[in-house]
Amino acid sequence: MGDAERIEHLRAEIERHNQLYYVWNTPEISDRQFDELLAELARLEGENPDLRSGESPTEHVGSDLTHDFEEVRHKRPMLSLGNTYSRGDVEAFYNRVAEGLGGERFEVCAELKFDGLSISLIYEDGRLVRGVTRGDGVTGNDVTSNVKQIGSIPQTIEGARGEIEVRGEVLMPWQSFERVNKERSERGEPLFANPRNAASGTLKNKRPEVVAERGLDAYLYYLLGESLPSDSHYANLQKLKEWGFKVGDAVKLCTSIEEVQAFIDYWDEHRRALPFATDGVVLKVDSLRQQQQLGNTAKSPRWAIAYKFEAERARTRLKRVVFQVGRTGAITPVAEMEPVLLAGTMVKRASLHNEDIMTGLGLHIGDWVLVEKAGEIIPQVVGVENDGSTDAMVAFPRLCPECGTPLVRPEGESAHYCPNEQGCRPQVVGRIEHFISRDAMDIDSLGPETVDEYYERGLIKDIADLYKLSVTDLQGDGASRLKSARKIVNNIEESKGRSLDRCLYALGLRFVGKTTAKQLALRFGTLDALMGASREELLEVEGVGDIIAQSVLDFFGSERNRELIGRLREQGVEFRAMAKPEKEGGVLSGLSIVISGVFGKHSREEYKALIEQHGGRNVGSVSQKTSFILGGENMGASKLEKAQKLGVRIVREDEFLTIISDDKHI
Ligand code: IVH
Repeated sequence: MGDAERIEHLRAEIERHNQLYYVWNTPEISDRQFDELLAELARLEGENPDLRSGESPTEHVGSDLTHDFEEVRHKRPMLSLGNTYSRGDVEAFYNRVAEGLGGERFEVCAELKFDGLSISLIYEDGRLVRGVTRGDGVTGNDVTSNVKQIGSIPQTIEGARGEIEVRGEVLMPWQSFERVNKERSERGEPLFANPRNAASGTLKNKRPEVVAERGLDAYLYYLLGESLPSDSHYANLQKLKEWGFKVGDAVKLCTSIEEVQAFIDYWDEHRRALPFATDGVVLKVDSLRQQQQLGNTAKSPRWAIAYKFEAERARTRLKRVVFQVGRTGAITPVAEMEPVLLAGTMVKRASLHNEDIMTGLGLHIGDWVLVEKAGEIIPQVVGVENDGSTDAMVAFPRLCPECGTPLVRPEGESAHYCPNEQGCRPQVVGRIEHFISRDAMDIDSLGPETVDEYYERGLIKDIADLYKLSVTDLQGDGASRLKSARKIVNNIEESKGRSLDRCLYALGLRFVGKTTAKQLALRFGTLDALMGASREELLEVEGVGDIIAQSVLDFFGSERNRELIGRLREQGVEFRAMAKPEKEGGVLSGLSIVISGVFGKHSREEYKALIEQHGGRNVGSVSQKTSFILGGENMGASKLEKAQKLGVRIVREDEFLTIISDDKHI
């Protein structure tokens, strides 16, 4: 391939990966691989000046614009940063700056590179009026209503006049990320690959209540405006801190390249202990005057650079690829490899996500593969070295590997599904396993292996069959199993009295997790009322939008599901109505409670439900009438201030849980 062709190919590839990363939040390659493509393109364009183009991705920043939000033009363009993985390049940057400033003394402000998405916040006379994503750097999306749900972003700045712009990064801390993914897995929804994708998908969600629920955070790193407090970037960051913004503690003024390198060394080692993901360090010339003197290129400033940490990577051999079928019928290709140590854990399996990603890699059995764990929790195969294998490439199956049914790929989705819901073993068994799980019917004496065994023995074909099991069935030949068989049967019997919310969750409706099940149960009270609910009634329920409403309607609209529910009822499953909120007698009765911040033990939605169950009322803003604030981590600065002013008490999560656990009325 000649240079011209290679350049054209690289441009197209980079644009495609930009789309996947910024717009769909489903990157196919690692940041490192992306940066390598971009570096190769920049090198080729440098060697072939006649082939340069203003349209090239080397000349503009990747765009994350979506049509879901209004587009607004940035007052000052949002540039990107030059980045490198090389310590030598950091030194070269330092020397370039020294030269550009003609030998004048300078300081470098070293900071963490937060791994989220950039945001521009506009304050007018001290009030937050707009929050805008970077977009293409010139125009961004107006996501103000979502930004207002992030507790750690101050809504007001005391004593500020005129227009102030603060830029920073919206991110999802590990704690929220893990909780959100746990909830998604319970609902059978695809997991977010890493906190950055989760933050981006959340900030661009059309429902602000989803944003509030997910626990985003924001760290700010840049103050812009006509008249700034100081000529020092570092001092301006301190001012941001005083105003109540989070800037992080890892900010250091360095006066030599050795200090800069020591800062990088320190954080490369200690970053894993941070509560959020960071993918590197950003170095900025501290004096704004000197920044101006150095100026910008079309895409990035000459006074700053990002040094990116190496993602942890290992090389191992591919043994085989298996295709897992989940309880919803979704097919996930999984690479099985020779075990290898990666970021402190032995890794032998890695997700290949879907057909497009898998075939894009071009895998052969026995290939050396590169496995990476960066911001990702789940290891990923990011590269393949084929050492001349002539075997055929591993192909994505056309038929379900479990039951042989032709797979389907719904339009607009990247996943394939097996449509044989009733006859495909892992789907049937998966539904039963979900039904008995702890947060569902809690039949804890039965485990996945036992369910598998009963299914194989023909004892159970669906969840209703569980209730027909007798001690004799289970005991089989072994007399020693009598005790455990009795326990299982008792446990199953006991589960007939589980409350409606648990039963609903146990039925495994798509997109209905624990929280939604609880809301539905509270709102409709009985299963019959829920089964008879109209779309409009469903949409009135907190947390229920079009997708969930449709899923509920589809589920109860199915003849087969209604028949299944009929059989469960015949066997004695009660679908017991939930205790109605104890308005009068609960410990919180008559109290108005504001929820603020991010919590570790329950989601905000769950706290809301708990407040109501115990007779309290959840209100949005702090006033004289507020009884107390249920305060988590990162409480909004304005709420804190108001609480102090009005003398409203802040009750922490643990204390709150103790208060309601004393409630004798519930
Ligand atoms: S400064 C003109 N500082 O990294 C300089 N950026 O590719 C503006 N980022 O788009 C950026 N942490 O989203 C700066 N401490 C930090 C940062 C940071 C993360 C992001 C930001 C930017 C990207 C650069």
